[in-house]
Amino acid sequence: MTVCNARPGPAFPVPGTVILMSRATLDKDPREVASMFDGVARRYDVTNTVLSMGQDRYWRRATRKALGIGAGEKVLDLAAGTAVSTVELGTSGAWCVAADFSVGMLTAGQARKVPKVAADGTRLPFGDNVFDAVTISFGLRNIANRGEALREMARVTRPGGRLVVCEFSTPTNRLFATVYKEYLMQALPRVARAVSSNPDAYVYLAESIRAWPDQAELAHQIAGAGWSAVRWRNLTGGIVALHAAYKPQR
Ligand SMILES: C[S@@+](CC[C@H](N)C(=O)[O-])C[C@H]1O[C@@H](n2cnc3c(N)ncnc32)[C@H](O)[C@@H]1O
Repeated sequence: MTVCNARPGPAFPVPGTVILMSRATLDKDPREVASMFDGVARRYDVTNTVLSMGQDRYWRRATRKALGIGAGEKVLDLAAGTAVSTVELGTSGAWCVAADFSVGMLTAGQARKVPKVAADGTRLPFGDNVFDAVTISFGLRNIANRGEALREMARVTRPGGRLVVCEFSTPTNRLFATVYKEYLMQALPRVARAVSSNPDAYVYLAESIRAWPDQAELAHQIAGAGWSAVRWRNLTGGIVALHAAYKPQR
């Protein structure tokens, strides 16, 4: 099924240009971010599973359940990368489309038989109110203008439709939070060096997680983008949080 034509925005490199960035900075320049993910795409799935010690599967399952989707519904999985998250959503019976602006990531997931669209999350190539639910896993943190992305997600969701944001967050136990920060800055880049196709990108990952707002602040930002009844649930002691919300009925 074809739902749209991709509408490449400024994040897509102009043909003929070569971007040599191996990692993005916290400015999150869209070209640098897309290029960095192109660079990790080949071994993205395995690196994720190793770095999260297998927890990624549990986080994806919890995201699907929190979204409460089922057969007959249309779901957008934004910043879907290799579409591993989209496949998990699809086990609900809902029709799920993967959207991402890294063509490298989408291509690395080409064996996954779900519809894929190359699209910038801040300029989605979909009409208003077309999805029953929208979700983004480990993607919002990488989008430079997260307010714009949250508003775009609201635009394409029908009134009363659901949002779930799955993202790294702040561990609730202080002692554990200290150990975890150490893991992020010391061990994570080292482990990534052994498994990833672009280990430098995992320095960015550690930095971006540390700079990310905590659960309450992110809930506030989601509400500020027009979503209602925002609440969250911690997974794995707050390493990850699921924020859920509705698009207001009006
Ligand atoms: C860490 S990966 C997450 C992939 C997948 N959702 C998962 O759970 O494995 C983050 C993804 O966000 C995408 N991304 C970042 N900024 C984006 C934007 N502005 N529009 C679309 N995708 C974006 C990247 O290309 C990358 O594939």
